[in-house]
Amino acid sequence: MSLLTVRGIAKAFGGVRALGSVDLHVQQGETLGLMGSNGAGKTTLFGIIAGHIRPTSGDVWFHDRSIRGLSPDKICRLGIARTFQIVRPFAGLTVRENVEIAILFGSMSRDSQEILSEKAMAVLAEVGLEVHANSLAATLTLSARKRLEVARAIATDPELLLLDEVMAGLNPREGEDMVELIKHIKSRRPLSIVVVEHVVKALTALSDRIVVLHQGEIIVDGLPSEVIRHPTVRSAYFGDE
Ligand SMILES: Nc1ncnc2c1ncn2[C@@H]1O[C@H](COP(=O)(O)OP(=O)(O)O)[C@@H](O)[C@H]1O
Ligand SMILES: [Mg+2]
Repeated sequence: MSLLTVRGIAKAFGGVRALGSVDLHVQQGETLGLMGSNGAGKTTLFGIIAGHIRPTSGDVWFHDRSIRGLSPDKICRLGIARTFQIVRPFAGLTVRENVEIAILFGSMSRDSQEILSEKAMAVLAEVGLEVHANSLAATLTLSARKRLEVARAIATDPELLLLDEVMAGLNPREGEDMVELIKHIKSRRPLSIVVVEHVVKALTALSDRIVVLHQGEIIVDGLPSEVIRHPTVRSAYFGDE
């Protein structure tokens, strides 16, 4: 059985149709690449899965239950975490405090402050941010803020991680580091991942399978090597006629 099943999800914002009728599944342990040009509906789909956006119709199943209509915190505690395209840490809190809040959000535990801090430091070590633990989040570079965004997501201990353009704005070297970081995290945790990324090289390096969203519909679903040869993908991404 699939870990995540999206069935017939549609979303209109007023008169704007963001998603048509999207069917999607994510298998346990899989990294699924979600490709699509600006406005294709990728972030909207993440918002619906994570409970931030209510779909117009359709259903989302996680394991063997429908999660449609559940609140974001409930969905997070069931095991789905997302990052935000526009990173938004609590700027006035330290890096460690930001991760501590994520740990609390993702669990109902009542750990002592000491244990909470230890858990946060372990997550920061995993993403290579431990030296910045006591810095204010506002002082981080974009690259470090993107890492903090990933740290906050994995701090909730998800089974399914939704990564929304965590490489956007990074230089090629920082982008490669982010690919390595995601692989590192995946190797340590029993995770399934859906990754949205515009850098095709990064997406193919990470993904077991890629689906392409085009104007709110899934038009291609296949192995990375097949998908990048698809005519619509070639014209949208590589400027082929
Ligand atoms: N809150 C919103 N209100 C109105 N329109 C929106 C909203 N969010 C997204 N849209 C529209 O829905 C479409 C899909 O957007 P989005 O999901 O952000 O695409 P992507 O992440 O693939 O770039 C776009 O046309 C966008 O303008
Ligand atoms: Mg987006």
